[in-house]
Amino acid sequence: MPADLPMLDGRALPALGFGLYKVPAEQTAEVVAAGLDAGYRLVDGAEFYGNERELGEALRRAEQQGVARDALTVTSKFWGEASQEPAAVREAFAQSERALGTPIDVYMIHWPRPARDRYVDVWRTLVELRDEGRVRTLGVSNFTHEHLRRLIEETGVTPAINQVESHPWLPQHELRAFHRHHGIVTQAWSPLGRSRVLHDPTIQRIAAAHGVSPAQAIIRWHLQLGGALIPKSTHPHRLRENLDVDGFRLGDDDMAAIAALETGERTGTHPDDRN
Ligand code: A2P
Repeated sequence: MPADLPMLDGRALPALGFGLYKVPAEQTAEVVAAGLDAGYRLVDGAEFYGNERELGEALRRAEQQGVARDALTVTSKFWGEASQEPAAVREAFAQSERALGTPIDVYMIHWPRPARDRYVDVWRTLVELRDEGRVRTLGVSNFTHEHLRRLIEETGVTPAINQVESHPWLPQHELRAFHRHHGIVTQAWSPLGRSRVLHDPTIQRIAAAHGVSPAQAIIRWHLQLGGALIPKSTHPHRLRENLDVDGFRLGDDDMAAIAALETGERTGTHPDDRN
């Protein structure tokens, strides 16, 4: 199991978690049970994924079977499409809390929605929730360095995590450098490029040379960049495979070959385009 990453709020974040985006509600219990059984200690959920109730049920079942809740990190995110008013942020948080039936460890702003220009105020409400003791760690998702700079300058509170799309075609080197400078953990979503990057010939060559799968080679690359990531899979054997990445290291030549794959291609929306 890869080592935890230190966060600026003094807590530790499991470097490898698994995500529940696009996991159907009816499959969530099974996927969460398989993930926890494989040894994951971070589950990335969100209001938008439509499976928080099922995630909560799976966490309760795991606890009954001996998985200590305080050993787990559970994430939720504020979607904010309908309203960005403070009352709406509080209501969304309370709704996720109720659906999960367990405290939220990490709460994030899901998208900055920059055309609305409200994310600084949304962040202030998240900071209040943290100060009230309702959530431990605050993060954001899909923030560019400009959005982060405003949060930091206008509120003085730096997010502990920025969860962004990143994979070998979109390594986000500049944003990672900004994160490093401010002590923010980079947590990659779609770390396998929604499986498309698995077919890249360079990735396949490097994986074969190390006797691992393409997914394992990409996961190792993320970890060696110093980042966290949440590969998604609905298959128990792939969840296990994706966690089994401690037995090899990519060399400098492998890292350089992967760096050359950058095309800027996204599998999801650009942060400035969602409002
Ligand atoms: P599945 O859920 O059917 O296992 P990302 O995390 O970048 O969004 O990628 C998720 C996609 O990659 C899903 O389609 C998932 O398929 C697939 N996937 C995840 N892990 C592996 C793996 N070890 N081998 C092959 N495909 C994988």
